[in-house]
Amino acid sequence: MNMNIDPGLQEVVAAATRLSGIDGEAGELIIAGFPLAELAPHATFEETLYLLWHDRLPDAAELRAFQAELAAQRGIPEALCALLQAAQRTDMMDALRMGASALSLDMQATDDARASALRAVAAFPTIVAAAWRLRHGQAPVSPRADLGHAANYLYMLNGTSPTPAQVRALDTYLNTVIDHGLNASTFTARVIISTQSDMISAVVGAIGALKGPLHGGAPGPALDMVFEIGKPENAEPVIRQRLARGERLMGFGHRVYRVRDPRADVLNDAAALFFADGAQAALYALVRHVEQVALHLLHEHRPERRLATNVEFYTALLLHGIGLPADLFSPTFAVSRVGGWTAHAFEQLATRRLIRPASVYTGPRDRVWQPLAQRSTAPGQTA
Ligand code: ACO
Repeated sequence: MNMNIDPGLQEVVAAATRLSGIDGEAGELIIAGFPLAELAPHATFEETLYLLWHDRLPDAAELRAFQAELAAQRGIPEALCALLQAAQRTDMMDALRMGASALSLDMQATDDARASALRAVAAFPTIVAAAWRLRHGQAPVSPRADLGHAANYLYMLNGTSPTPAQVRALDTYLNTVIDHGLNASTFTARVIISTQSDMISAVVGAIGALKGPLHGGAPGPALDMVFEIGKPENAEPVIRQRLARGERLMGFGHRVYRVRDPRADVLNDAAALFFADGAQAALYALVRHVEQVALHLLHEHRPERRLATNVEFYTALLLHGIGLPADLFSPTFAVSRVGGWTAHAFEQLATRRLIRPASVYTGPRDRVWQPLAQRSTAPGQTA
């Protein structure tokens, strides 16, 4: 057996997928056959989800039926609401993880992978919106079946109907981040479902992987850095200090892309509308300035690495423009990516193959058992 160790699995190809393809050198992303910029600004989230699940766009009747199926699954049980009420002081991603797990409360033994996937995708926005309102002292808002997925999410968060521009921008965001090859959370979902475990377990595990700052937890801190910088002349000293402390700049660098992440451009185009004038225009100019300074200093700091802007930097800009606070950025990423997790889980189930990589044992082999009374701490070791 080949025992070359690749701890980040960077060179390992562990799945064939028709869902999304990335060219990290060219900066290209294909979603089920569509170049990202061809799909994301035009489709609704439901159309993109249907595309991933069925490998084609729906016709009008199919889309209506699919939207109705999703809308019927948006409600969450009382006990889940009570759990979110008790979880008011936990991190929002932890609240989503706990809430997603509690979807099992009203699942039926007859629910197959598709029914569970539909339930998860439909209910994620309801869980996030309820968790967020409860921690801000507001009662959860019940979902409205007459609204699309994106519009209903904003409605449940704010209690008021969103503008068409906000809905279009959110659909564009949800389409942009729905799937991205074998990223860490998607791989997690595939590993879990490969044991023939259930779909809810797969998406719950994936939330845990998405939460980390090296994956989906970056956009909040990216925006925080812009606010900390505050004005253009502060950008260089603040970023230099962070790099000198050995910190990573959130929103920059990527495992696959060696050039600018194509999702950044799609999100930047969608965001422009919200930053046309006044204080918002000044914030937009600051964001662009911070990006340029960061890229320059990253190149100076690690000239051998090609560190470019990733999706999270412009996620922060777009979601802020739509009016979402920073603690909703990562949960909103999950509201989209659950579509990709479920589609990958279907693909993985079809392979009927358990994912189980090998490891190399590097420990000793000749230890001799000593009864507890005879053990002593070796010199140089702490007890
Ligand atoms: N800021 C400063 N230095 C960086 C950054 C960064 N954003 N990204 C990479 N580097 C440096 C690191 O110092 C690292 O050097 P080290 O080995 O001395 O620590 C070197 O470049 C190589 O980085 P890797 O860890 O090999 O890059 P990897 O491919 O594993 O990581 C990652 C990619 C995790 C995204 C990294 O670039 C990073 O931490 N970025 C900041 C967090 C972020 O934006 N996350 C969102 C990613 S997008 C997404 O998942 C949706």
